[in-house]
Amino acid sequence: MAKMPLPWCWPLTVRVAGPADEPVLADLLAASFPADTLPTMLLAEQLKRGSVRYLLINEGQGFLSYRQLFEEVEIYLLAVAPKARRQGLARALLEFLMGALPAGSRLLLEVAADNRPALALYQQLGFQVYHRRQAYYAQGQDALLMEKRL
Ligand SMILES: CC(C)(COP(=O)(O)OP(=O)(O)OC[C@H]1O[C@@H](n2cnc3c(N)ncnc32)[C@H](O)[C@@H]1OP(=O)(O)O)[C@@H](O)C(=O)NCCC(=O)NCCS
Repeated sequence: MAKMPLPWCWPLTVRVAGPADEPVLADLLAASFPADTLPTMLLAEQLKRGSVRYLLINEGQGFLSYRQLFEEVEIYLLAVAPKARRQGLARALLEFLMGALPAGSRLLLEVAADNRPALALYQQLGFQVYHRRQAYYAQGQDALLMEKRL
């Protein structure tokens, strides 16, 4: 069956976050990665220096962070507020990023092998696993390294 296009009828904004967005990003991090405080600790510095870029969707419903080094684009974190999930926002963030990058870019990311929502999303968008790190995370899950060439 053909996949239905996303319902682009709702208001959708994506913009690069700046230092003033730290509180909303910190809330999203706390809600989505409660066991991992490192990203929150690094947040202020990253926003100030612009070393890691944060794309914010709908003024705080979700974000994607990444770093671009020439043709390689490493996606670090992707999170959508629990109340706003399953509405296509994570997919919209990834599609926005992919649409802004030149052909030939290589997108890289890492995901826990048991993170079924994220894995399904990345597979849906054409990311492929190129390496598996056994028992990489503290709870013993494997890490899957995925890539997509534009
Ligand atoms: C993973 C996450 C970012 C997905 O965000 P989302 O906005 O709900 O995802 P979308 O609505 O764009 O979903 C797009 C596709 O992803 C997959 N997907 C998303 N959530 C899913 C779920 N709970 N179960 C199964 N598949 C899911 C589906 O293939 C979905 O397409 P469909 O709706 O046509 O079936 C969100 O669940 C989240 O923030 N999780 C916590 C943080 C996290 O694990 N981030 C990823 C690792 S950094």
